[in-house]
Amino acid sequence: MDKKIVFSAVQPSGIPTIGNYVGSIKNWVNMQDEYNCIYSLADLHTLTVKQIPAELRQRSYELLALYLAAGLDPNKSVIFAQSHVPAHAELTWILNTVTYPGELQRMTQFKDKSSRHAENVNMGLLDYPVLMAADILLYGTDFVPVGADQKQHLEITRDLAIRFNNRYSQTFTVPEPLIPKVGAKVMSLQDPEKKMSKSDENPNAYISMNDSTDDIIRKFKRAVTDSEACIKFDEENKKGISNLLTIYSLFSGMTIPEAEKQFEGVGYGEFKLAVGEQVANVLQPITAEKNRILSDKAYLESVLKDGAEKANYLAHKMMRKVYKKVGLIQL
Ligand code: AMP
Ligand code: TRP
Repeated sequence: MDKKIVFSAVQPSGIPTIGNYVGSIKNWVNMQDEYNCIYSLADLHTLTVKQIPAELRQRSYELLALYLAAGLDPNKSVIFAQSHVPAHAELTWILNTVTYPGELQRMTQFKDKSSRHAENVNMGLLDYPVLMAADILLYGTDFVPVGADQKQHLEITRDLAIRFNNRYSQTFTVPEPLIPKVGAKVMSLQDPEKKMSKSDENPNAYISMNDSTDDIIRKFKRAVTDSEACIKFDEENKKGISNLLTIYSLFSGMTIPEAEKQFEGVGYGEFKLAVGEQVANVLQPITAEKNRILSDKAYLESVLKDGAEKANYLAHKMMRKVYKKVGLIQL
């Protein structure tokens, strides 16, 4: 049996947080043996909000270094930058012709980002999910490991695949999201009603994958919780503590009930310190390795080159099929 195909991506639009790590990248690592995995830097997607060009380039290297430091292996998986494979933009055009503006205007992320970037509501921001659908459909993807916030984008991807297949005959695999049971939505440390986001204006709200041990411990100490002094998982009434328990569980490998047991009768101060230390212990070697890899640009570029070659081969094959189905002349 052929291995199933996995595709996912993160935008190099800021320093990834532990939310990106546990919601997404960490899970990619474990899939590399069982599946044919394709992991991308969604650099074209970042252009939908204003970027500083030199920073975008640097962040792309950083995100790639993080992928590698976290355990993505270029000998097992295809690792590449979206902009190095022109077929992503080409398929976006074709899919645009089967997409309705109304279904894009309804997307939560579009509504959210257009209110946050009211000065720059551009066509790219509206079309963002179609580019994402192209990313996924180009490779005959079966599974897409992502955090909970991407569920709606996966739904439109499936709709577009089905619509295209109905109009032009079976072409695309209809993909399924893989959303982790624990860690699909890590919440802000300052406002546990909001998801942890790398674009939060308050850096105390997130733990970035670049934070030092001291920063990490300080931020957890300041994390907003309730005043009940009882470490129990209760997402209704104790959002802050539940988020910390979730993070602790993800970084220690313990289940949430095991963690609750370990911290029975312990004060919030001591608990927050323990969470901070646990996260710092796991992140420290990853950050160190990331920085080591980052200093070797030639290596990073060789990974991108090799990945682009493999991805272009696969994507080009799919584009020929698509162009043929829609009736374009093949030379
Ligand atoms: P982005 O930062 O938007 O490029 O997201 C990259 C990946 O991280 C996607 O799979 C998201 O679903 C996931 N992700 C982002 N924020 C969180 C969070 N707070 N908790 C869990 N997963 C997240
Ligand atoms: N939109 C995703 C995010 O912000 C990133 C992304 C782009 C992606 N293309 C993708 C994720 C394809 C999965 C598959 O998180």
